[in-house]
Amino acid sequence: MHVTVLADAAEAAQAAALLIAARLRADPALVLGLATGRTMQAVHAGLVGLHRDKGLSFARCRSFNLDEYAGLPPDDANAYRRTMNSDLFDLVDIRLSDTHVPDGMAPDLDAEGRRYEASIVASGGIGLQVLGLGENGHIGFNEPGSAFDSRTRVVTLTMATRSQNRPLFGGRLERVPRRAITMGIGTILAAREILLVATGASKAEALARAINGPGDVQVPASALQRHPCCTVIPDAEAAASL
Ligand code: GLP
Repeated sequence: MHVTVLADAAEAAQAAALLIAARLRADPALVLGLATGRTMQAVHAGLVGLHRDKGLSFARCRSFNLDEYAGLPPDDANAYRRTMNSDLFDLVDIRLSDTHVPDGMAPDLDAEGRRYEASIVASGGIGLQVLGLGENGHIGFNEPGSAFDSRTRVVTLTMATRSQNRPLFGGRLERVPRRAITMGIGTILAAREILLVATGASKAEALARAINGPGDVQVPASALQRHPCCTVIPDAEAAASL
């Protein structure tokens, strides 16, 4: 793992956006694995800025998002599909039909997991997978206990994760869905390159366990130690316990 500590969250997000831009310039047809969350909003804003000011083009790339809440329609204010459209896809030159987010409204979510996994494989596989980090060490919505060879599937969210994401639902825990569909850890590890971004003091313990601890299914992000090409960009607060 290659770890680059930046001073604050804004610098970490910009460094992440620049790394993604460099890979996209080297391979305009890159298959990008994308993530959501507050950390990623800053990364996406950085990418939008690079598109607007530096001519970064997404016209030939395709994308697969990590996860989606079960039971939220794509235009729900908290659906990851809607967030991705408003924060990134609608603001750059990517073709919406080349962007993929699991369908949390699919009548058969198990079948949707298999379909999503097959469409990643059909795309040639993910070239660069971008990840945020849960306070409990989750990546995507792979909660503690997820097998390192897991694939896209339906998961039950832990109370810790629902509480972490509760501010995005107006502070109302009962509004945070109980289930989600997520790429598995095995799906993530199949990407050719991985970029993990973690900012803020609330991520420090999880990041230290992910990087310095033993590989442990109770810390899903520790699976990244197995990956041959993984960059971690924390800010100083998130790196405090490394
Ligand atoms: C959600 C997403 C994760 C993301 C995490 C971090 O749980 N499913 O993929 O890593 O949020 O969120 P934040 O950046 O808001 O701390």
